[in-house]
Amino acid sequence: MRIIESIADMKKFRLKLPEPVGFVPTMGYLHEGHLALVRHAKSENKSVVVSIFVNPTQFGPQEDFGKYPRDPQRDLAMLETVKTDAVFMPPVEEMYPPGYDTWVELGKITHRLEGAARPTHFRGVTTVVTKLFNIVQPNRAYFGQKDAQQALVLTKMARELNMDDLEVITLPTVREPDGLAMSSRNIYLSPAERKGATVLYQSLRLAEQLYQNGERDARKVHQQMLDLIQKEPLAQVDYISIANAETLDELDTIKLPALVSLVVKFGRTRLLDNIVLR
Ligand code: PAJ
Repeated sequence: MRIIESIADMKKFRLKLPEPVGFVPTMGYLHEGHLALVRHAKSENKSVVVSIFVNPTQFGPQEDFGKYPRDPQRDLAMLETVKTDAVFMPPVEEMYPPGYDTWVELGKITHRLEGAARPTHFRGVTTVVTKLFNIVQPNRAYFGQKDAQQALVLTKMARELNMDDLEVITLPTVREPDGLAMSSRNIYLSPAERKGATVLYQSLRLAEQLYQNGERDARKVHQQMLDLIQKEPLAQVDYISIANAETLDELDTIKLPALVSLVVKFGRTRLLDNIVLR
């Protein structure tokens, strides 16, 4: 496994990699959700590149960029076990030299949900992922359904910016045995918060069950999810959304496919999860 820190070296090494090349961008502090993406990428490509870069431009000024969990040695050991060919881990100044001021920005779809809660977030994501695509030149790139809006945004970006030699692939959310979606941020949770955090997936399953029982009124589903979450004293709902799964327009009447997504805070930790009703 080759570890690469400079853009020039990454571009040089890319030329030697057998094609097709699969690419999994990450911010590190890896878990089984990231590894599932790498394994899948390995199964359909000759080579796999993983990036580890905690991208400062996608964090707001009051967010956890400085405190985002990091453990590169552990990450590299995990990536060895899934036969990663190259790990690109540039320092911040390599990606954003002094005076850097070029941005990739999408429209309406990035102003909803996470974009409404975190106004500059998606501009940072689309900019860094475009830069990473230009550096790594992958044939396929893999993202998790865990960040459903991010996956939609990046798929739309690749299509609308004519990144035609690149296939963007979204893979299912990997969960803990009790249903909690795996996330690098789960380590922030105290034992009591970790227990309460199962309420996210429970409320998503409740939405699914209500839909299956014939409920089509999004407001009623929303209210029942809220009631369930509010039984958990440590949970604070940030938002619950029932939206068209492609446009992210909020629904009054549930029509398929619908994205049910939510953010619940435990202390200062924001947990994000979703399911798609099909
Ligand atoms: P990060 O949060 O490290 O996630 C990297 C990739 O792993 C994303 O595509 C994310 O959706 C996926 N992922 C995270 N948890 C998952 C889970 N439980 N199951 C399946 N996939 C999961 O997302 C980012 O980094 C950044 O925004 C990035 C795209 C790297 C740009 O900086």
